[in-house]
Amino acid sequence: MNNNILIEDFINGIPKVELHLHIEGTFEPELMFQIAKRNNVSIKFNSVRELKDAYSFNNLQDFLNIYYEGANVLLTQQDFYDLTNAYLEKIHSQNVHHCEIFFDPQTHTKRGVNFETIISGIHEALVQAKEEKGISSNLIMCFLRDMDIESAFNTLEEAIPFKNWIKGVGLDSAEVGNPPSKFKDVFDRARAAGFITVAHAGEEGPAEYVRQALDLLKVSRIDHGNKSLDDDKLVDDLVRLKMPLTICPLSNHKLRVVADLKNHPLKKMMDRGLAVTINSDDPAYFGGYMNENYNAIANALDLSKEDIYTITKNSINASFISDSDKLIMHQKVDNYMEHNK
Ligand code: HPA
Ligand code: ZN
Repeated sequence: MNNNILIEDFINGIPKVELHLHIEGTFEPELMFQIAKRNNVSIKFNSVRELKDAYSFNNLQDFLNIYYEGANVLLTQQDFYDLTNAYLEKIHSQNVHHCEIFFDPQTHTKRGVNFETIISGIHEALVQAKEEKGISSNLIMCFLRDMDIESAFNTLEEAIPFKNWIKGVGLDSAEVGNPPSKFKDVFDRARAAGFITVAHAGEEGPAEYVRQALDLLKVSRIDHGNKSLDDDKLVDDLVRLKMPLTICPLSNHKLRVVADLKNHPLKKMMDRGLAVTINSDDPAYFGGYMNENYNAIANALDLSKEDIYTITKNSINASFISDSDKLIMHQKVDNYMEHNK
């Protein structure tokens, strides 16, 4: 029993599950330049330093502009493999045992990259990480909500031959003006085809978008969901439904969803009974992977080991793994807690 373990060491060591992670958002500048060079494509920036200096955002759209720019250099199956593999190596060093990864096919197919090229590279890295590192994973395909529903339907059709590799569908990109209601029909089709559904809602958009994600898209998790707190009845329903929220602290700070992490509503959400989880969203752009996100919010809100334990347990419950795999993950976390109280 180690009674004196620091919260930072406790966080770094606890077995973790990541549920909100865009693979294109893990594209570190060094790898971006390396892939750009081998593919003979140019980047708007002259150096890693210049690129990193551009990582200052006033809102979601500011970030998305750079995020899509970076993704433009990804062309081959090897590129998607290298991108995914780099993320998996990183989380392996941070004691993340399971991850559920978003990918944005339209970002690439609209540039002429084949769906099969994208998913094969990602999938190959995931299979290898399971074999070599013991990291399990699920893939979630996101529709870009600032594109039209026809494009989303086409993307769903392209995904069907790879259905065994994809657990669910989600909704991301520019939120305001692109409500969940716009995608009801394609989500109906996706659920009928056997996909679980999730959606980004209430990051910049209103609580009403969270309500629509629940009622119209029948989601199993809300990605972000910060704005839910503006609607008491909605919060009551989220608590009653045990609906998980995938909170991304450093993202919220960098995109100015919260002005200061000390004002982040995460603890308030926990006290209200919401099933909150901690995730990294786009770690290459927001300054940190899982451990950095956990540590930043723990420091800002003075979270206890029990709080961290509760959050990691929430993430296991909110994941799309089997009940038997959840039990194994719970045992790992309980065992860790027992030895590091
Ligand atoms: N919100 C919406 N779309 C995104 C995000 C996000 O945080 N990250 C990548 N695409
Ligand atoms: Zn996101």
